[in-house]
This record gives sequence, structure tokens and C-alpha cells, in this order.
Amino acid sequence: MALYAMGDLHLSFSTPEKSQERFGKIWKDHEWKAKANIEKLVKPDDTLVLTGDHSWGGNLVQAQRDLDFIAALPGRKILLRGNHDRFWKANQTQKLNDIYQGKLLFLQNNFYSYNDYALVGTKGFCFEGPFFVDTRTNLITGYDKAAYEESVKLVEREKTRLMTGINAAKEAGYTKFIMFLHYPPTSIIQTDSEFTRIAEEIGAEQVIYSHSHGKERFHDSIHGRYHGVKYSLVSGDYLNFKPIRVLK
Ligand SMILES: [Fe+2]
Ligand SMILES: [Fe+2]
Repeated sequence: MALYAMGDLHLSFSTPEKSQERFGKIWKDHEWKAKANIEKLVKPDDTLVLTGDHSWGGNLVQAQRDLDFIAALPGRKILLRGNHDRFWKANQTQKLNDIYQGKLLFLQNNFYSYNDYALVGTKGFCFEGPFFVDTRTNLITGYDKAAYEESVKLVEREKTRLMTGINAAKEAGYTKFIMFLHYPPTSIIQTDSEFTRIAEEIGAEQVIYSHSHGKERFHDSIHGRYHGVKYSLVSGDYLNFKPIRVLK
């Protein structure tokens, strides 16, 4: 029995015009690369957490083939909401859990267990700019204040969702946590955030996140151990579409 994670499959079976291939050769046939790797690694009694950006579908009908593709992969699949998952309306997590009962589990405002661990998570949010940079050295000299203020609101909303799941897990008696975020836990100008503070407060052993694509973005946030928590980036292209093992 093992726990695996990876993010950002960005499937487009019903929306081929949105294929990820437009973003470079790492994305060529990436869905089949991911499928082959997952089938080799993940056994039927394993759990695979997919950390968001599952589908380019603009609604549930357009996302259906993508979700069916995921449902056909081995193991218990837990899905986190990514910023591109338009098929997943914030208030319809229960509906998705009903539709895909026995096939997929959707993680938001709730938690799932893995042995004596509670798997908690939410989309999260971090400020991604716009930043004003010094054109010669690329040093950040400022940022868009209105966009920053908006990001504070989004962080607050995501924090509430995350805490709903954490509190439910605590009430059910869980004391060990693995935390999942779609967005990186910190922006490029932060060393700590609301999410790193929550991870430290609940004693999360690990924080797993994705969303960052391309070499120049892979190191936007924390990697490895920080204040006692282990942080791992699991964007599909960062992992060359091979999930990481989170727990045995
Ligand atoms: Fe993504
Ligand atoms: Fe994303």
C-alpha cells in the first residue's frame, strides 16, 4: 500500500484545441506517458492524489472524457481542484462525489484518510503578480497593489475551505496530516504564508503542491524541509509525468 501524488494532467480529450502541446515538447503525448507511468507504479490498493488542473473542459460535459480517463487509472484517485478546473464549481464538490461515487474522490471542504493520516487540502492561492521589475537586472521593484489585495481575499477563502477539512479530520480523531495544495504555498516574494503557517500549526508532515510549469517557474516556492515540514512540487512536467511516492 502506498500514497502517490502528481498534478496538472491538463487533459483535453474533448477540447483538442486546448492541447498542452502548444506549451512545448515536454507535453507531447504527455497523457499517455502519465498513464504508462501510473499503470507501472500504482497498485489497486494504492492511493493517488492528483493535485488539480485535470481538464481543459469548460464544463462537466466537456470534462467527462478526461475524468473517465483518470477514473480508469489504477488505485484510489483523490482529486484536488486546480485553477483551470472549470468543470468543478466551488459549491458542487458533493455533486461530483455523488456522480463519480466508487470511481473518483473530490477533495475540498472535506478530508480522506490514508492509514492513520488525514489527507487534507484545497486549491490554495498565491500572488503571481503583476510584478514591476527592473528591466536590467530583473529585480522586483514593486507590484500591482489592487491585484495583491484581491489575492489576500482569495487566500482567505481558500484558508476557510482548508480549515473545514482539517477541523473535520481533527473531530474524527486524526492527528497526522498530509496537506495538498494546487497553488504553491508561497509566492515568489514570500518565505511564509497563511498555508505554511497552517501546515506548521497542525504539524503536517508534508505539503504537496503543483501549478508551476516550466523550468523558470519550478523554483518559485519551497522545496524540501522548511520549519519541520517537507515541501514537494509535483507538477506533471516537473516530474516528467511520473508520480512521487508520498508515503509507504
Ligand atoms: Fe497547471
Ligand atoms: Fe494551475
